[in-house]
Amino acid sequence: MTKRDYPDLHEHLEVLKQKGLLLTIDRPIDKDAELHPLVRWQFVGGIDEGERKAFLFTNVVDGRGRKYAFPVVVGALAANREIYCVGMRCTADEVQQRWDNAIANPLPPVTVKAAACQEVVIEGAALQGEGCGLDSLPIPISTPGFDAAPTLTATNVITRDPDTGVQNQGTYRAALKAPDRLVVRMATRVGGAGGYRHYVKHQQRGDTTMPCAIVLGAPPCVAFVAPQKLPIDVDEIGVAGALAGAPINIVKAKTVDLMVPAEAEIVIEGYLDTVNVEPEGPFGESHGHIALEEFNIPMRVTAITHRKNAIVASYLSQVTPSESSAMKRVAYEPMFLTHLRHTLGIRGVKRVTLHERMTALRRICIITVEKGTARTEVWRALYGATSLRADCGKICVAVNDDIDPDNSDALLWAIAFRMNPGSDLQVLPYRSPGHGPEREHEAEREDATLLMDATMKEDLPPLALPREEYMLRAKKLWEELGLPKLRPQSPWFGSPDGDWTPHWEAAAKRAVEGRYLENGSISKKLQRKGMKPETKYRPDEKD
Ligand SMILES: Cc1cc2nc3c(=O)[nH]c(=O)nc-3n(C[C@H](O)[C@H](O)[C@H](O)COP(=O)(O)O)c2cc1C
Repeated sequence: MTKRDYPDLHEHLEVLKQKGLLLTIDRPIDKDAELHPLVRWQFVGGIDEGERKAFLFTNVVDGRGRKYAFPVVVGALAANREIYCVGMRCTADEVQQRWDNAIANPLPPVTVKAAACQEVVIEGAALQGEGCGLDSLPIPISTPGFDAAPTLTATNVITRDPDTGVQNQGTYRAALKAPDRLVVRMATRVGGAGGYRHYVKHQQRGDTTMPCAIVLGAPPCVAFVAPQKLPIDVDEIGVAGALAGAPINIVKAKTVDLMVPAEAEIVIEGYLDTVNVEPEGPFGESHGHIALEEFNIPMRVTAITHRKNAIVASYLSQVTPSESSAMKRVAYEPMFLTHLRHTLGIRGVKRVTLHERMTALRRICIITVEKGTARTEVWRALYGATSLRADCGKICVAVNDDIDPDNSDALLWAIAFRMNPGSDLQVLPYRSPGHGPEREHEAEREDATLLMDATMKEDLPPLALPREEYMLRAKKLWEELGLPKLRPQSPWFGSPDGDWTPHWEAAAKRAVEGRYLENGSISKKLQRKGMKPETKYRPDEKD
């Protein structure tokens, strides 16, 4: 055994099990028709994020009754924040610092000679024939009824820059096409896949192929770096080492000139075709629509290497929330906050939230600022958030911290009552369309940006719900009466904040104590003549 100071996928699953975060399903499960829909229910079935689990399927079959030797795990990296934090070996509060530190201080990997991921090597003619190559792996169909192929989702796709020699790792999907052929989809848009930049460089040199290694089931800290947007020419493996707190072991791939993580479960080695493209899809996309067929990059597989007891990891992706969005969110939100607070030095920014349900984090960005933050700082925060990434922050909304940014209803409440479209809204031109459903009529169109200041422009009266003490008292009563289980939605109580005087506070206290007649005596003395109804009355301190 090679020395290492970080957990592999097996050890990670063991910790999840001990913490009650892993469900093991031993009954037969059809990997194509049943597996993803079953796990999907915990994202669309009204289950709280905190209750989501990782699912390990030990008895995987398919529609033709074939049994697979490998188990499949879904949700193991990020079914929710807690699972992600187990993989990062830190608390949710420490995630941002972990990433900041790892990106600033990468730890170079260590090259080893013998590796767990190469305990079994299948190459050359042994890959040919049904059930021998890729189709020996239980790769699930993600969106049954729409997807045209079992598709790899939990990937670290490794390619190398032919000029600098620096490797890149990205999470890109790849559709199974034959026992020794996949089609890989690398985003070609500005700010898209790092691997695509390598592909273009190979083409420019006249190379007809490009070496590629698709890693499945890397140690969690290595898996986490692939979906993260890192600066171009940063080798993700060093960042993974810094995240893990120890250098990552790497080994030379068997049939391509690339280095791969030694403790990966499975590595698919081969060559991307830089001349021919092949239709790939349909496949369910994270922007919420099915991505229809498009020409993507064929890969000829030269070897599959794996551990003897390999587990196939698959991400639940497509419509958000998903494992994919949960994984990105914990890393992206701190990146935005650091940018606004530290790079731009904006005062009063407390939190940045990327809206997740249906909108895939990229489209709607909520910036929480302290009450009383200068209007100019609020607008700097809006401009800063919208320009950090080409594909994020199409709609940015600034709110105060009495609004729960995860509650869309509360957000709409702030927009409805605190935002004046005449003075608190701007539309900026020249945005790239980014990641979204591509239709013919939109292909050439530039998108735009919508910025909204939905903060309080002055003190407002308290939220019109009973104070917390009364709501809690009533909750106890509710439970004593055996009424249906409550799932409190924020906001569920009002606080005496904002425009609220001691006079009104005292009157409310008397009223709730059954002494409203005293309030009547006080108001009687304040009767006036000749005043229009609805004229405001503001008691001063002596009233
Ligand atoms: C589950 C999942 C699937 C993804 N699929 C793709 C994909 O097919 N193609 C792509 O270019 N990016 C895809 N992404 C996004 C990339 O992983 C992300 O942009 C990452 O920054 C790429 O790394 P790179 O910048 O080093 O290429 C996916 C992300 C996740 C989490």
